[in-house]
Amino acid sequence: MKQEPTEHEPTAGVTAPVIIVGAGHSGVAVAAGLRARGWEGGILLLEAEKETPYERPPLSKELLKEGAPDESAVLRKEKFYEDKRIDRFRGITAESIDRKGATVLLSDGSRHAYHRLVIATGSRARPLTVPGAELAGVQSLRTRDDALELKRLLVRGARVAIIGAGYIGLEVAAAAAAKGCEVTVLEFQDRVMSRVTSEPVSRHFERLHEQHGVRFIFGAAVTAIEGDERAECVVTADGTAVRADVVLAGIGVLPNQELAAEAGLECRDGILVDGDGRTSDPAIYATGDVTRFTSPIDGASQRLECIQNAQAQADRVAAHITGQHAAVPEIPWFWTVQHGVRLQTAGVRHPEDDVIVRGVPADGRFSVVYLRAGRLAAVDTIAGLTDFRPARKLIAQGARIDPTLAADPGIPLTDAIPTDANPTDPNPADADPVTARI
Ligand code: APR
Repeated sequence: MKQEPTEHEPTAGVTAPVIIVGAGHSGVAVAAGLRARGWEGGILLLEAEKETPYERPPLSKELLKEGAPDESAVLRKEKFYEDKRIDRFRGITAESIDRKGATVLLSDGSRHAYHRLVIATGSRARPLTVPGAELAGVQSLRTRDDALELKRLLVRGARVAIIGAGYIGLEVAAAAAAKGCEVTVLEFQDRVMSRVTSEPVSRHFERLHEQHGVRFIFGAAVTAIEGDERAECVVTADGTAVRADVVLAGIGVLPNQELAAEAGLECRDGILVDGDGRTSDPAIYATGDVTRFTSPIDGASQRLECIQNAQAQADRVAAHITGQHAAVPEIPWFWTVQHGVRLQTAGVRHPEDDVIVRGVPADGRFSVVYLRAGRLAAVDTIAGLTDFRPARKLIAQGARIDPTLAADPGIPLTDAIPTDANPTDPNPADADPVTARI
């Protein structure tokens, strides 16, 4: 990515605010980070939704439960925004950016000058595009309104067809099964969570779901949803028809990059940013799910969908705007809970990594270690977090791991270092993460 050098400007004399587009985890964290780092100028936070910015993880978990309150926790109480002098426009979107004039045009027709612009527009549910996708009863799950509508539909005895066996599909499958629904999951691949985990973990969670009455159809290419006004049936390419009163599409997300792309910022399945969250325009930053950047760990180009990244990147943006040093980026981590069993992942696994199972999956509690060229790249922990913390440290260090030692759950991961490991081995994690650029 080409980029001109930016010079930090002093806050004094700056009249235009930092405008943040999007009040999800990342946008709100930028606003908080700016104040925490002493930014005295204006902050304007724009949000398309009208509600107080809220947590998303509970939408596919706690919020769907029987008897749970119809709200998920807010990210920050209203008072926080008042105390920190964070101006908010709700129910308003940014329509276009005039980069030359450093202004942004909003959906209410007003135009606002910015000192720095931060795009934190996140991602949206990938829409299902087959015939019948517009029928009533066909849902996706991204916003609180989506979750509340889904919750209303998940009643005892309802036939629920879930398209996509990722985090969202499986968390909803668990919630629906717990409410006494008849659940079928249709997945294009041959196993669950294939994007994020390895086969042993997939199989473990498949068994868990099946024990709770969830049925899977793998290799399912959905071709249509049939029904008069409401969804009645999901049809696949091989002619299988699954009766359904409710259809949830959990088929991934798309980055909300249009605002940036139309302004001519470099985008490639995500807005391209550097290690400080800078886009190809030095006055414009982007942060969170909507960004693509080079991993400081292994140099891979990545777009991460996780809160940890949303917050860490936000901190880097706030630091850069205020001319301060940011904390060294943490190892990304992810989690899901299905039927009360937690899968927590440290690092980003690649499909070609070596896979080592620690423990016996049938016992219900185990870890899976991923090695890339002999070094620890990621760890999945299932129903136990013993390996999680050491794993993050070892991944950050680019530690070499002995596969035989790592396979023994009795040996702490920190002791699974090969005896012949040469401490002077070049370590990819030694590369300065701050200078890692796309
Ligand atoms: N038919 C069936 N399955 C499909 C189809 C399709 N047309 N298209 C995609 N899939 C499957 C993919 O193979 C994948 O297993 O849907 C699954 C989607 O999984 P993810 O990409 O993990 O996306 P999703 O579960 O929607 O989660 C989206 O929300 O909670 C966050 O962190 C979570 O980043 C994740 C995001």
